[in-house]
Amino acid sequence: MTLTADSAVTQKLSLLDELVLTLLNEESGYFRQVPGWDLNCAVIGGVLGELSLLSRIDTDMDSLILLDRTQTGDPALDPILEKIAAEPVQRDAQYWIERLAPRADSIIALTLDRLVDLKLLRHHDGEFWSLAQGAWQNDSHATSGEGTAVDFVKTRLSRAIFANEIPYPRDIIIICLINTCDVLRFIFELDEESEKRVEFISKMDLIGRSIAAAVGHNLAGSLFRPSAFAKPIPVVPLRHVLRSRHMREGNLPAFFAELAKAYGSVFQIRPPFANPIIFLAGPEMNHWAHRHGRMYLRARDYLEDFEKVYGGSGILPTLDGADHFRYRKSMQPAYSRSRLVAQLDEIYSNARNHMAAWSVGDVLPGKTMCRRFINSKMSPITVSIDSQDVVDDLHKFKERALQTHVVGNLPKFMLRTPGMRRRAKLIAEVMERVQSVHTPAQRAGCPRDLADDLLSMHTSDRQFLPESNLPFVLSAPLIASMYVGDQLGLVIYAMLSQPEFHKSIRDEADALFADGNPDRDEITGPAMDVTRRFIMECMRLYPIVPASYRNVMNTCAVDDYELPEGARVLVAQTATHYMEDVFPDPLSFDIDRYLAPRKEHLGSSYAPYGLGTHTCLGSRWTSLHLAIHLLLLVHHFDVEISPAKYKLKISPFPSSSVNNKLKFVITERRHELPV
Ligand code: HEM
Repeated sequence: MTLTADSAVTQKLSLLDELVLTLLNEESGYFRQVPGWDLNCAVIGGVLGELSLLSRIDTDMDSLILLDRTQTGDPALDPILEKIAAEPVQRDAQYWIERLAPRADSIIALTLDRLVDLKLLRHHDGEFWSLAQGAWQNDSHATSGEGTAVDFVKTRLSRAIFANEIPYPRDIIIICLINTCDVLRFIFELDEESEKRVEFISKMDLIGRSIAAAVGHNLAGSLFRPSAFAKPIPVVPLRHVLRSRHMREGNLPAFFAELAKAYGSVFQIRPPFANPIIFLAGPEMNHWAHRHGRMYLRARDYLEDFEKVYGGSGILPTLDGADHFRYRKSMQPAYSRSRLVAQLDEIYSNARNHMAAWSVGDVLPGKTMCRRFINSKMSPITVSIDSQDVVDDLHKFKERALQTHVVGNLPKFMLRTPGMRRRAKLIAEVMERVQSVHTPAQRAGCPRDLADDLLSMHTSDRQFLPESNLPFVLSAPLIASMYVGDQLGLVIYAMLSQPEFHKSIRDEADALFADGNPDRDEITGPAMDVTRRFIMECMRLYPIVPASYRNVMNTCAVDDYELPEGARVLVAQTATHYMEDVFPDPLSFDIDRYLAPRKEHLGSSYAPYGLGTHTCLGSRWTSLHLAIHLLLLVHHFDVEISPAKYKLKISPFPSSSVNNKLKFVITERRHELPV
């Protein structure tokens, strides 16, 4: 066999890299999956295959022998090699695959990071990956052929399968592994003849055969694993719920953490006259939901009724799998940094226009003031309309719809009261307003906004974004201002009740606005470091979306509890915010936890914007908007809490906000507002 340019290139990717690339499903942005298969086993198979190609181990059907314990320098391989070298007794491949499968997660993460570093993959928020077009030719692989790295690997595999070329040893192992996982048929169209060829190739190499057999054995076992070890899920007595101080104060994250401490990471609550809800709380559950949730949990069911209220079907938060990834990918430019930067001046000026109506002595209801303050900018920059006249009603309608059709703490007829019917009509009005300013003539020369992206998606694919979904999607940014406003209310409360932070944030604001409006680098850089960490700490202690509903679509086992198909689950992703082992001294307000070397927020235990595939698409927007509004507020005004002795009480449903008793008093105008 001659060493071609292709094979020289191949050496730059490990077998594991190639296996991961081949298993990636570009449509769903994650790995190809078939019922019962276990990515972890296949990945450990890939590690053993790589170690055998590097002559560190040898394996046949009965044993796995250590040949050379010298480190390979590859962080994905060396810890596994160390484990094998440390074992006093000789074991077979099956033993190692079973034993090492739990470590596969970190190996997959390392491999994905490496492929992103090599610019062969692109990472998207929400734990999605896609192939990077073009990097293959531009970077270190100047000699390679056309297309992406996967095209390259697939071409080699297909030559072995369809053109009867003699496969390289690594290709034999990859074909064996992918075939054992039953994924090969999703990558290539196999007829009877090619299936025979695959079988033949699978037998060509003893290493590949033994590893594939061991993986196959483990896969078969894993099908039955969930029910074999299932423990009964503890039920939280209702009296515990009713007596909890955190629950009474509306602090759901602290309440979930309290329950997890008492009952473990999986527990259930059986509300009277309603179906039981299984709660997942704690760092391991967050990690599981973040990385693996997509295989077992579905978002569609819990929002099915809610989207109907808006006349929609298949709106973004209800999608799963490939459609969901496609939707997110197409909407990403609308939430990108460059779009944000282009809007900074408009945000400053809209915010000031809004504040110009405030006078010293005004007593403003905290919740409404913050929602309107935020919407005065969100509405013009996202959908290019002013909606201040209807936004309070739209927020009330959305809150009621969530309570009646998602949380279930109010009966459904409460959405059909005369007041709510009147508010429902405003949704169509907002849609018409948006459409009327988005004609080609009116948009000529305007910077692109979110509505432009949505409307062009609708025009280009009317099945994917039908007209029936427009009322929801075009009014959603106004509704999102409710969330940002509510988070701002909690942030302002936290600042005013801690004067030392109020002073530091005011100093930052005065410095930032001393010479006019700060540009992007200034408003996101070290000059607002205290403000940024202060907001992060507020979002840890007072996250406004403490948990996310899902339905189990595939029975699975977490922490040895079985989640049965069809069960309603609440991923309490912010319970970790109040756990001592994740955030030491969790009740203390400490903005230094985000500094190196502590950096307690890294990983999936800090989750104010959710976890996994549905992670908030607006998180960058939101963080920037919160900072800008807080800085502008303290630069231009002095504000106090009213009543002075107000003690924070959170309204927890449908999402968290300060309760209606909190007011903000404008006590001084510090800097004039430009006309
Ligand atoms: C403080 C304000 C906000 C918070 C705390 C927040 C939090 C969240 C959370 C926790 C989720 C995940 C829900 C789930 O898993 O079921 C989510 C989803 C989402 N958020 Fe936000 N959000 C905020 C503001 C915004 C804003 C301003 C926008 C848009 C401009 C936005 C756009 C979205 C979208 C589109 C999704 C759905 C993503 C998907 O389903 O793939 N969010 N948000």
